[in-house]
Amino acid sequence: MGYANEGLPLNPRLPLFYESTPDRFGFTPNPDGFRYRDLGFGNFLRSGPQSAPNPNSANWLQFAPSTDGQFQVATARDVALTPPQCPTTEAGQVDANGKPIPYFQKEFFHNGYIKSLKQLVHFYNTRDVGNFEFNVTSGHCPPGTTEKVDCWPMKEVLQNLDMTTGMLGLTDQEENQIVTFLQTLTDGFDPANPTVSTYKNIDTFTGQCMTTAPGVTASTQGNETLTPTWSLTQFPCATDICGVAPLPSMPIP
Ligand code: HEM
Repeated sequence: MGYANEGLPLNPRLPLFYESTPDRFGFTPNPDGFRYRDLGFGNFLRSGPQSAPNPNSANWLQFAPSTDGQFQVATARDVALTPPQCPTTEAGQVDANGKPIPYFQKEFFHNGYIKSLKQLVHFYNTRDVGNFEFNVTSGHCPPGTTEKVDCWPMKEVLQNLDMTTGMLGLTDQEENQIVTFLQTLTDGFDPANPTVSTYKNIDTFTGQCMTTAPGVTASTQGNETLTPTWSLTQFPCATDICGVAPLPSMPIP
């Protein structure tokens, strides 16, 4: 297992005031509201919000500033696993008769920002391409650009930005081939029926599959619910996150 920084844009999924307001049980999931920042491993080492006390604090606490924003790399096994009735995670797929295939909306990466495998591979392919980079938060891509297609919002945690992989130069077709490869990592994958897992203990899904809305593709699925996110300087990082020693090595936006 390794740790790597993805420099992912902020999660536009939820308006954060929902998370910073008590629910009907009186539980407030995110008391820091707009001031919340996910420092990942660094937060864990500092025993910060939503983290259990660090049992190895004496030796490891010193490494917090050098691990801010880092996450344990997730396995790609079963990343495309879906219930049988919605056999794909990718919007816009059609069967042999041209009929739309119902899809299962997943959310990938640590904050759910990425909504399809296509977007995930496109992220790795283009995240550091200069004219795709914009100094905006999610939901504010300039007119004429499409978020996640030719506009990536600013990074969430800049401290450990790793640009080793980010301009892969893959064509659209090559991206799609990697998506197809990721789909073979599903337990029970059957090459004769590649979109449906034969995994015997697959959970029974009682929810609704998604159907592709007009104009939506795997590249843009989920963009219809993009919530414009705040300006980072307007809501600086909360003190229970960024004010805990040893302090982050430079100011977190
Ligand atoms: C084209 C090449 C790559 C593919 C196909 C790929 C595939 C994936 C997949 C499918 C996930 C999501 C797992 C999940 O949400 O369950 C993932 C997450 C992740 N990958 Fe990769 N990966 C690639 C390159 C890399 C590289 C080069 C790095 C490190 C420099 C990396 C580090 C990570 C990290 C840190 C996560 C977790 C991100 C998060 O949760 O926010 N990946 N990758």
